[in-house]
Amino acid sequence: IEQHDVRPVRQRLLVVANRLPVSAVRRGEDAWSLEISAGGLVTALLGVNDFEARWIGWAGVNVPDEVGQKALTKALAEKRCIPVFLDEEIVHQYYNGYCNNILWPLFHYLGLPQEDRLATTRSFQSQFAAYKKANQMFADVVNKHYEDGDVVWCHDYHLMFLPKCLKEYNSNMKVGWFLHTPFPSSEIHRTLPSRSELLRSVLAADLVGFHTYDYARHFVSACTRILGLEGTPEGVEDQGKLTRVAAFPIGIDSERFISALKLPKVQEHIKELTERFRGRKVMLGVDRLDMIKGIPQKILAFEKFLEENPLWRDKVVLLQIAVPTRTDVPEYQKLTSQVHEIVGRINGRFGTLTAVPIHHLDRSLDFLGLCALYAVTDVAIVTSLRDGMNLVSYEFVACQDSKRGVLILSEFAGAAQSLGAGAILVNPWNITEVADSIRQALTMSAEEREKRHHHNFDHVTTHTAQEWAEMFVSELNDTVVEAQLRTRQ
Ligand code: ADP
Ligand code: G6P
Repeated sequence: IEQHDVRPVRQRLLVVANRLPVSAVRRGEDAWSLEISAGGLVTALLGVNDFEARWIGWAGVNVPDEVGQKALTKALAEKRCIPVFLDEEIVHQYYNGYCNNILWPLFHYLGLPQEDRLATTRSFQSQFAAYKKANQMFADVVNKHYEDGDVVWCHDYHLMFLPKCLKEYNSNMKVGWFLHTPFPSSEIHRTLPSRSELLRSVLAADLVGFHTYDYARHFVSACTRILGLEGTPEGVEDQGKLTRVAAFPIGIDSERFISALKLPKVQEHIKELTERFRGRKVMLGVDRLDMIKGIPQKILAFEKFLEENPLWRDKVVLLQIAVPTRTDVPEYQKLTSQVHEIVGRINGRFGTLTAVPIHHLDRSLDFLGLCALYAVTDVAIVTSLRDGMNLVSYEFVACQDSKRGVLILSEFAGAAQSLGAGAILVNPWNITEVADSIRQALTMSAEEREKRHHHNFDHVTTHTAQEWAEMFVSELNDTVVEAQLRTRQ
């Protein structure tokens, strides 16, 4: 029998997300530079390599002129990215408004915006109209680039209307939708004025995925309670059409972190940081400056720890690296001032002429810098009030093979379900409990740290972003085949 060394043709994947993996910065009329965007969605998807993938999304910038649009389209094409151009008004109403001021807080159990509820209610209709319009614009671009056999994978709360728009274009498109945030209890979802329309649009997809089983269960309950549909072990059924619903916990490209630590540049940086913080234990927080991350709660818990453990005051430092995000949304602006105020107060209270207890940086670190920082950390602290998964906790674990640092992790992050046995789990709202967990982490025995690290390291290195994507795409392919068989019967 002749052996043919023919690689199977890789399936084309159209990844559609509001944010492209690169954000554009204008350097001239037709000159652009591209920078890696921050956030868990981008981090995970950059770890997915074994597909013939094209990205479709927004480059994070308003480009009103044709010359600029042409030049940016060309620059992005080199990165296999295809832009969706959104004008300022759409960005204001769809991205800042409906996505980040309404859906984001609601899906993280923070309710509808606190301030001026009536104004929010009044602007709701126009923001929802902009949301639908933006989703239609994404659909138009997908449709233009779609080829028979492609898999279209839509991501996140920005694009809940997209599966419906795509199926209206072509009912044979294989469409998957994945949510990177929690899906809240149906009691929360039902407060949303557009609750039914959004659920129905998502149900147009063939496969709907979540990080955890709980989020999937909440989604199915919302469909049964709000839409009156039938939930089955496979998903949700509407007049004989099944939308498959399942959990696909995301991961990271752990190998990328592990090999980065061996680079001479990173080793050099590790040495510098070790020298810089000699004699002090290093605690680390890395977050987008977002209200869901519980940054004020984390810092207040650290203050309580210092208050109750005076002997630790000059022996520990908290590095909080918080990259600014969604800075046009007023809630985020308020959070920034609040965090600065608390940090200033605590540093004034416990700082000395030579050292301060908290280093708070409002900025993003580059990948190698971040790896070095993870590697010198004794205790990483994640206090999300809610978080879809939280990949920072995975990244920290991947970089701890020599130090065996301790992870303090909010029980409200999806990661608590996968890293719970190795981390110290806390309720971030309970400042006393978090302060105690800091003491426990700083004084934990080497054997205990070793045992906990092994549990988490095994998980992070075996449940990778690549595996997550393969599982989702293969389930999507199977779901479509099964549906075709069912309709033929
Ligand atoms: P989210 O998706 O809500 O931002 P995750 O923890 O899942 O939360 O992912 C955040 C991603 O963004 C991680 O890959 C992390 O390394 C990156 N990130 C967050 N803050 C910073 C920062 N200050 N500098 C560099 N990267 C950051
Ligand atoms: C979270 C969301 C992503 C988003 C990221 C960064 O991870 O799930 O969809 O891209 O935050 O937020 P931004 O608004 O800057 O895209």
